[in-house]
Parts: sequence; structure tokens; C-alpha cells
Amino acid sequence: MSYPFQIKSLGQYHDAYKKSVEDPESYWASVAEYFQWRKTWDKVLEWNFKEPKIEWFRGAKLNITENCLDRHLADLGDKPAIIWEPNDPGDKIRVVTYKRLHKRVCQFAQVLKNNGVKKGDRVCIYMGMIPELAYAVLACARIGAIHSVIFGGFSAQSIADRLDDAKAEYIVTCDGAYRGSKDIPLKTVIDDALIGNKIIKRVIVYTRTRTPVSMIKGRDVWWEDEMEHAEAQIEKDDIVSFPAEEMDAEDPLFILYTSGSTGKPKGVVHTCAGYMVWTTYTFVNVFQYDPGQVHFCTADIGWVTGHSYILYGPLCAGATSLMFEGIPTWPDAGRLWEIVDKHKVNIIYTAPTAIRSLMGFGLDPLKGKDLSSLKTLGTVGEPINEEAWHWYDDHIGKRKCPIVDTWWQTETGGALISNLAGVTPAKPGWATLPIPGVQPVLVDENGKEVTEKDEHGLLKGNLCIKAPWPGIIRTTYGDHERCRTNYFATYENLYFTGDGAYKDENGFYRITGRVDDVLNVSGHRIGTAEVENAINMHAGVVESAVVGYPHEIKGQGLYAYVIYNRPHVDDELTRKDILATVTRIIGAIARPDKIQFVQGLPKTRSGKIMRRILRKIAEGETKNLGDTSTLLDPAVVDDIKNGRL
Ligand code: WTA
Repeated sequence: MSYPFQIKSLGQYHDAYKKSVEDPESYWASVAEYFQWRKTWDKVLEWNFKEPKIEWFRGAKLNITENCLDRHLADLGDKPAIIWEPNDPGDKIRVVTYKRLHKRVCQFAQVLKNNGVKKGDRVCIYMGMIPELAYAVLACARIGAIHSVIFGGFSAQSIADRLDDAKAEYIVTCDGAYRGSKDIPLKTVIDDALIGNKIIKRVIVYTRTRTPVSMIKGRDVWWEDEMEHAEAQIEKDDIVSFPAEEMDAEDPLFILYTSGSTGKPKGVVHTCAGYMVWTTYTFVNVFQYDPGQVHFCTADIGWVTGHSYILYGPLCAGATSLMFEGIPTWPDAGRLWEIVDKHKVNIIYTAPTAIRSLMGFGLDPLKGKDLSSLKTLGTVGEPINEEAWHWYDDHIGKRKCPIVDTWWQTETGGALISNLAGVTPAKPGWATLPIPGVQPVLVDENGKEVTEKDEHGLLKGNLCIKAPWPGIIRTTYGDHERCRTNYFATYENLYFTGDGAYKDENGFYRITGRVDDVLNVSGHRIGTAEVENAINMHAGVVESAVVGYPHEIKGQGLYAYVIYNRPHVDDELTRKDILATVTRIIGAIARPDKIQFVQGLPKTRSGKIMRRILRKIAEGETKNLGDTSTLLDPAVVDDIKNGRL
């Protein structure tokens, strides 16, 4: 099998880019020919950013799982779709062939149907990184239910908020999940999230850790029992069948919650056809995937990277995708390299945070690991510093593997700016060129395109995109206006990414990070307002302000300034109480790294917190704080400076 849309040279890239911009409809129509459609489209693209209303492949009918599974059965049926590496290196590896994956997905689709799930229903999936998670996701897609996967690190409260927002009626979970040395009691967290919930009809529980769980009669059922029953229903004469639901190109495929600058996460909605085309196209082109290669994306399926580059993109391309249950540092910091060696991995795709953290362990963990199978390295999630880039290049790729720095977002469905491995040039720290179909523009505060270069000959501005690509966000679930104000209202007729960027004389882009109140901690997006809300829920906290500061491993760390109204004799204990509160409200991923107790926060006369000042102090800058004359009480700044952690 080969990919007719694969770009194989720099010249082809420039041609494809030009076509995609000059005549997007005919360009994407030709790419879309690769896929399997029940009915082809009436119109390739219809859009305006005003509402916004974006339709790709209007009128087309398809089911994404027929593209991920059925289509491959004849040629690739016995080839591995998913290779699963368990948390414990001694445990049994599971190899799921395309045939087997198809069978399990059909079976679980039947389970969902038996339990009352219908097209358009929302199914929340809260599981560890096991093959059953892939079955559950794809089974939803097969019957046209909308999946909402929630990362296993989120708290009961966060789950409850997401269930409520999506009006989800079904949950698929596990008793527990293994992650490094920890067992996470997923079902217990779900039980807490469901206290008082009257909407949930069914919870399907897979046994992974055999931890005691309470199964509520009439609501909770075991995965294993349900699957056994379904198998008997759908398997006749050794032929498995569960017909895929016919979906409209623009029917929602999934919801994925992500942080923004307000206190409440947004349910980003992606639809069937455009997302399928975009993830597959970018997977093949960015990584230059060759059939037969083993692709290892280390992300969790609870994040968009896992959705797009463990599941949908690779599977639509008939690739072999490695899925890892554990973490890079357990049982030791050589784990990823051991996996590369063991499974002869060809492509590894990870976050700069992981690279920096592994770099910190030196070269010992690499000893005795054969990394010669590697062909391509990738990074995603945050800017990569040059030191980490070079370490990755020298010690992992042995200077023979191109590194792709892929910039994208939950909202973009797949990579937008990235070099194509070995095809377009790389530049350390730079995401480089836009993928065909993507038209970036840098604008100033007023939305005017920047044209003045700085002293280094670079353009600098807020990164926007001028026109839709197939994988663009369609709406935020249940609240289209929110989608408009968040992404399409800041600058007229532009999609605003929330990121700042540089552009060099070659047209390469370097993403500098968020320009809004969203932080990027270990490659995970966290809204400062959300963390503040959680801190403020702790009794005794009067007010708080959270800002980011440079963190050697995590990229950004969370620095919280807290006004506390009780005489707390023990700062350390109070800090722990606050951390416990944040863990309970959001999850451990949002715990501040530093908490400084302060008497007051720097506010303007109109009561707005001057975060710029707090950010500078957190960064260690105490002298040039800029103009503080508009502050209501400039004395608080000295107090904060003196108490800096
Ligand atoms: C940041 C993850 C620099 C950026 C796929 C973006 C990056 C946010 C890169 C989206 C990169 C992602 N270089 N920054 N290669 N990739 N980012 O939604 O700030 O979890 O807006 O999607 O991560 O995070 P999200």
C-alpha cells in the first residue's frame, strides 16, 4: 500500500502547498480519494469565520472505523494494528492485529448497543492506556456515539463537570489503572463523580487491576460479561459483523475538553470526515510513515495527541501503532529506550518535557539499548529548547534521524506547522513551515499583520490562521457562541491560536508559547483561572493569582500567590492543604509548584490584578517591573518581592 497524497520532496511540498492555497477544494478532493466513502461529497468546503460555520466534504457519508479497520482487513488483517506494552516490563505484551481489532470493536459496539447507546449519545471514557480503551473509542465511532475521553489524572469533580457539560449518559471505565509504581482507582473516582448524578444510565467496567470496586445494581456492569454476550450475538460461522453506522461528514466524532483562559474547560468538537482526512494526511506526511513501520507515540489517549496519532491517524493509514501503558521513568529512566529496542520502533513521538526529564538521568539508561531501528523522532506539546533538541538528536537519533517539531492544538485536530521528516528542513527550536492547507499570519494587538522585523530580522506577533483546514474545531459542545468568542472574535476573519510566534526570513515559524492566561505545564494545557478557582475553594483562602514561571523540566511551572485569612502557624501544612484541595477539584496535574502567602495582590484602581508584575517576580525579575504607577497600593509589590520563593 502506498499513499497517493504523500509528499516526498521539497519541490513536491512547495507544489502541494501552492495548490492547497490556490484551490483548496480540488486539492483536498484529491487527497480525500484515498479514503473509503459510503457516498462522496457534494461540496468540498463551505465556510465563514464569522459565525463560525465550517463544513468539509458536505453531503458525504462515511464511517471512520471502516477507514481504520474494515478497509485494511483484506491486505493487513494479520498485521499488527496495535502493539501494547504493559506498565510492568515483565508482563505479557499484546499484539492486536487488524482482524482482531476489528472483531473487538464490533463486539464492543454490540455491547454499547445492548446497553442502549445510540447515534449521537455521549459516552465518557475514563480508562488507563490498555487496548480496551482503543476498542471503546472505536466502538463509539462505529455506532456514531460521541466519545469524550477524560485523562486518568483528572479528579472526580473534573469528571462530574465534564459529564454535566456533555450531558453524558454512559461511562466506560476500569477498576483501576497502572501508571509506574501507582495503581489509580479509576472506578472509585467515577463513583465519587457520580454522587448525585441522575443522568448516567450505565457504567461499563473493565477489570485491569482487580482492585475492589462497588458495583451498583442496575447501573454498573462488567465489560467481560457484556463482551461474552455480544460475541455470541455477532459471531456467526466465524464471521464477525457489526455494521458501522452511516455518518454524515459533519456529524460529531468526539468531544475533548481543554483549558482556556476562563475557569471552565471547553468541549472541543471534531467531526468525522475532516478530522479523518487531516489526521491521516498529517500522520503520513509529517512522519513520512512507510507501511510496515512501528510508530510509537508516547502520549496518553486522554489528550488530543493520543486521539490523532495513536489511534485515528495511524489506523486510517493502516500503520502499526505502539501503545504504552506506563511512564518513561518507571521502573527506570531507560524504559522508552528499552521499548524502542524490544519492538524495533521506527518512529518515536514524545514531549519536550519527557526529553528534558530523561536527559537529567544522563546516558547510563541508554547503555545496552539498540536504537538503530529509529528512523524519525518527533516532539509536540510545547516549545523545545535547543539543548533538549540536540540531546534527542545526538543520543537518540544518533544524528541520523530527522526530528519533526509539530506545533498544533486540541482545536486543530492535527499538526499545522511542522517540518516533514527528511523532506523539508529542520531547525532546532523551530516548528518551521506550515503544512499544506494551513495559512498562518502574525498579527499585532489590533489584528494588523506585522511587517516590521525586529533587530534579529524576525517578525513577531500573535499567531492566527487565515482559512480553515479539514481538521479545524467546529464548535464547543453545547455553546457555539463560546467557540466564536474564544477563537474567531479576537481578530476579524481569523482563527486565533492563543500562541505567540516568530517568523524568519525563510518563512519558518517558532512558537514562543501562550499569550493568554493558559500555561503549558509538562506539555499539558492548564488555565490559570481554573487553578485559581480551585485554590479559592479552600477554606481560609481569600484570593489567589496563578502565573507561570520557567521550569527546567516541565517547561512552565505554576506559581501561586495566595491571600490567606487565618493565622496559619505552619505555612508548610497550609500549603499541603491547598495542594490537596487542588488535587481534589482538578487533579494532581494542576498542583502549583510554589505557593507564596501574601498580604495583598497588585491591583489597578479598577480592581484588575496586574499579572505582568506577578509573572516577573515569579520569574525572578525584581527590578524592572515596568510601570507600577497605576497600582492601587504599590507597597504590596515590595511585600511580594521580599517573600519570593
Ligand atoms: C503548545 C497539543 C511549541 C502551544 C497537541 C499550543 C507547542 C498548545 C507545540 C496546545 C510545539 C503544542 N511548539 N508549542 N511544537 N505543540 N504547543 O491543546 O502553546 O494540549 O497552543 O495540544 O501547546 O496544547 P494542546
